[in-house]
Amino acid sequence: MRIRQAKSSDREEILRFCARTFNWGDYIDRMWDYWYRSGLLLVVEDGDKKIGVSHVVTCPDNKSMWLEGVRVHPDYRRSRIATDLIARMIQYGLEKGALQASAIVDVTNVASQRMMERSGFEIVSRWAYYSAGGKPQQKKSAARLATVDELDAIWHYLQNSEIYRLSAKMYVKSWHWYALTKKVLNDFIKEKCVIVTSCPIDGIVLINRRGYWDRTNIMQIVYLDSESACGLEQLVSFVTNLYLDGGFEELQIVCHACKLLASFLQKSMIKDAEQFLLYNKVFTASVMPSR
Ligand SMILES: CC(C)(COP(=O)(O)OP(=O)(O)OC[C@H]1O[C@@H](n2cnc3c(N)ncnc32)[C@H](O)[C@@H]1OP(=O)(O)O)[C@@H](O)C(=O)NCCC(=O)NCCS
Repeated sequence: MRIRQAKSSDREEILRFCARTFNWGDYIDRMWDYWYRSGLLLVVEDGDKKIGVSHVVTCPDNKSMWLEGVRVHPDYRRSRIATDLIARMIQYGLEKGALQASAIVDVTNVASQRMMERSGFEIVSRWAYYSAGGKPQQKKSAARLATVDELDAIWHYLQNSEIYRLSAKMYVKSWHWYALTKKVLNDFIKEKCVIVTSCPIDGIVLINRRGYWDRTNIMQIVYLDSESACGLEQLVSFVTNLYLDGGFEELQIVCHACKLLASFLQKSMIKDAEQFLLYNKVFTASVMPSR
């Protein structure tokens, strides 16, 4: 068995055993070309048979790495192939200077959860995903777009927010989780992508108007934070109106999974819901390979 960097000719054979990974299928076919060009796409082969795949990329600041797309051919599971792929991905990230690794696993995927734990990862947060389509009704909302001069007030709100802490201080971009820092917040405000409840601020939402991967007509909430049902309703109503006015094909909400959010969102226009565990592993400088 050998792990090596993927070649473009590996694509079809890998996709054949990845077509029905989950009951809904898989997304590796949509990601292959993109993963092939960015980070490191790994393939496992046994003789000339391809039996595994995974992808790792370092985040723009190179401080962390993101592990994804681990798939092992059903006939070859429980032989430590995924474990070896994880080790190889981590080695790549460490060589790039990353000092932590993260990955997301569906709450129903017990095999994958055990696999992450066996490789020393810990759960740092639990996230929920909701999607809605169609045409919900426009609703009045007292929420509004944040302005740059509110940066300090919003940052202060986050520092005291239990939801921010439970979100592991992260937000989502193209299904990768990144640190929600003050600089990131400022960039979002400048792009008119932060919505707040009226003064005093008791809720905040970050949105992405550009979709992700090959789905560019999606409106996404990528961070949602409100401890009051009223604030939550104002924020979600405001984003729903943006979704309707913008002619998007789908509204998605990706946020920390908590009961208040779940009961509110499930009552509204939701057609699909899933939950994920965010795993993380921190490395000390002593494990860094010498350069
Ligand atoms: C999850 C998956 C990648 C594991 O691949 P693998 O090569 O069989 O995993 P490994 O042999 O390296 O297993 C490492 C550890 O994970 C755990 N594990 C793996 N498969 C498991 C299963 N079916 N049930 C329970 N634990 C499991 C075990 O703790 C195992 O260690 P052990 O065998 O010493 O007990 C593989 O089952 C797969 O391709 N599943 C479908 C795709 C998927 O879910 N990918 C991950 C998405 S986040």
